[in-house]
Amino acid sequence: MGRVHLFEFNDSRFCPRFVRDSVVEVLGRVIAAGPIPELAAPIFVRFIEKGGVRRLLDLGSGTGMTTAAIVAAAERAGAGDIPEVVLSDLRGGREASGVAAICNGRCRFWPEPVDAMAVDPAIAHDGRSFFCVFHHFRPAEARQVIAAAARDGKPVLIIEPFPRNPLYLRPLFFPSLLAYLANPFRTRRDRFFKFVFTFIVPLLPFLGLWDGLVSAMRIHSGDELLAMARAAAPDWQWEHGRAGFGFLRQISFFMGFPPRHAEGAAMDRDAGPPVSR
Ligand SMILES: C[S@@+](CC[C@H](N)C(=O)[O-])C[C@H]1O[C@@H](n2cnc3c(N)ncnc32)[C@H](O)[C@@H]1O
Repeated sequence: MGRVHLFEFNDSRFCPRFVRDSVVEVLGRVIAAGPIPELAAPIFVRFIEKGGVRRLLDLGSGTGMTTAAIVAAAERAGAGDIPEVVLSDLRGGREASGVAAICNGRCRFWPEPVDAMAVDPAIAHDGRSFFCVFHHFRPAEARQVIAAAARDGKPVLIIEPFPRNPLYLRPLFFPSLLAYLANPFRTRRDRFFKFVFTFIVPLLPFLGLWDGLVSAMRIHSGDELLAMARAAAPDWQWEHGRAGFGFLRQISFFMGFPPRHAEGAAMDRDAGPPVSR
């Protein structure tokens, strides 16, 4: 299917904070508890090894749950050099409780809002990641984000929880419903509103379902990202693909490295671990 960019509640600055937060909190918990971190771990490891990434800037981190779960899965899979991860979000840090414990203290939140389209040069990092967030960018914005990473010489990793097709949401439906029912008791702020709009006026699960459907229709395909990336940085190395099993358990990924990383990766096999910039 073609890409469609409809309205999402968690995207809208006119939407009440408790609605935006609910969608992001539930998403982070559902992804962290399911198979996606395990599917993403080998891709993450390949990215940090090939890119020589020692300090990763994760953009659009939401509560940080998804990123922390991927980092933890990579560690469980035996990855050696897990980088320090700086979590960040356009809406500032709204870290879920438990994030630091999940990732063994490797992830910490940047305290100020960070816009993926204008990354603050004061944040020292040598790679950028986007987990379950790239679909928020329209094609022109996505091009801009990739071009900025290439201009700044930062390897980039994009992982989406499924390819573009709402059918892939099916396995997430019941876990999400349960997570919406639990969220008013687990959340850090706006508990009253979240409780009322879950149990008295059961609106939040429906808004979340809408955002999920719209997200699934917004995902950029690998070929679309490749065309943007090649136009932005023709000499970079770009890779894309899917990982998973069966029809309904697949994630999609895209990553890119400056040309010198290709040479570096070849050298690294003989000369030990890659050197951080
Ligand atoms: C669907 S949530 C994903 C959150 C998280 N990555 C996860 O998997 O749980 C999208 C997040 O992207 C953030 N976001 C949207 N536009 C952004 C931008 N231009 N720069 C940084 N973050 C952005 C939103 O605030 C929101 O927290």
